[in-house]
Amino acid sequence: MSTFKAPKGTYDLLPPDSATFLAVREAIARPLRNSGYGYIETPGFESVELFARGVGESTDIVTKEMYAFETKGGSRLALRPEGTASVLRAALEANLHKAGNLPVKLWYSGSYYRYERPQKGRYRHFSQVGAEAIGAEDPALDAELIILADQAYRSLGLRNFRILLNSLGDKECRPVYRAALQDFLRGLDLDEETLRRAEINPLRVLDDKRPDVQKQLTDAPILRDYLCDACKAYHEEVRELITAAGVSFEDDARLVRGLDYYTRTTFEFVHDGLGAQSAVGGGGRYDGLSEMIGGPALPSVGWALGVDRTVLALEAEGVELPLPSVTSVYAVPLGEEARRVLFAKVTELRKLGISTDFAYGGKGLKGAMKNANRSGARFAIVAGERDLAEGVVQLKDMESGDQAPVGLNEIVAELETRLG
Ligand code: HAM
Repeated sequence: MSTFKAPKGTYDLLPPDSATFLAVREAIARPLRNSGYGYIETPGFESVELFARGVGESTDIVTKEMYAFETKGGSRLALRPEGTASVLRAALEANLHKAGNLPVKLWYSGSYYRYERPQKGRYRHFSQVGAEAIGAEDPALDAELIILADQAYRSLGLRNFRILLNSLGDKECRPVYRAALQDFLRGLDLDEETLRRAEINPLRVLDDKRPDVQKQLTDAPILRDYLCDACKAYHEEVRELITAAGVSFEDDARLVRGLDYYTRTTFEFVHDGLGAQSAVGGGGRYDGLSEMIGGPALPSVGWALGVDRTVLALEAEGVELPLPSVTSVYAVPLGEEARRVLFAKVTELRKLGISTDFAYGGKGLKGAMKNANRSGARFAIVAGERDLAEGVVQLKDMESGDQAPVGLNEIVAELETRLG
């Protein structure tokens, strides 16, 4: 052990578990690539102001959880706590929305940072794979994203997740609801901070997890009763399209999200095997975000799925992903001459795409065979001076234990055939 440990709230991804992470990222990305989403990568940090304006001045993410700092040059930057604001910023900056092909569909995968109280499933550094469809107001687009997330989870073998769906209304009907909710909240017995929150962002109070607050919210006005006709019709269409696709969901009139940019469709994917941190993913429509960060009106929708929590969900369901064996062939040279000859064979095999490893460090036969075993290789090739003198190597089938000499010039082709 060194003097140092991974910072609080973070952990290292190490083999063999790291292979599961890669497989999860890949499984989420696959349906997106298959549906017209192009890959985007943005910097790990952005102007603090982008998140303050985008995610919302009064959200926990901005007020408490942001890793904000000032650079030597005097810029106020923050490690990105989420991806949507950055992706929209990048799309606007590159004028992707003017290329004439709306919606602009993008997907991303990366690290995000929130200074949260760490616990199982909640980290200060975590991974998301996300998708954003920018510049179209079409219920089919909202439905597409929900269906693709469902597909991703199912392709991984997950079953015990649920989709919670709600509409948060738009700039016509939300303010009316907001005022009604504020009126209601003012009459409750709430602490100072919560009352303040009720003035700035009353919807967030609905998300308060404390039982004494939740108890008082039983009769709170519900947004659904305030939705304007356009929002109602839009939401109904989203629901019908998802249903027609055979994806089941639950209407959750109380679902509010931790970010302020949402309008209309909002959803969360929750997994019942995860305890408190049950949200494996979430998203929704953000029709006003572009204007909030200085762009033109660009109604958009997206989601982000948490890779860490998806891996925990797989564990909770006991799902083991069929991961390909890392190494197919392991080469064991005995002596200098064999080292040169086998190393060349290893390179040849690798060029053919056969995953091959080599016993480095001049180990004896016993130690090297132990490593061959641990590598999970299907075959070992072993050669000593006498083998080379006879122009052969020993090919050992690691499953059956059978071993037989194969000509030095034939071994590569032989392995290629045997590995199919
Ligand atoms: P979010 O709900 O804040 O949404 O995060 C999405 C997912 O990221 C969560 O459901 C969770 O799985 C994972 N996640 C968030 N915080 C942590 C954490 N501290 N530790 C581990 N996992 C975490 C967004 O970030 C929005 N940008 C999603 C979106 C995209 N909305 C529209 N487009």
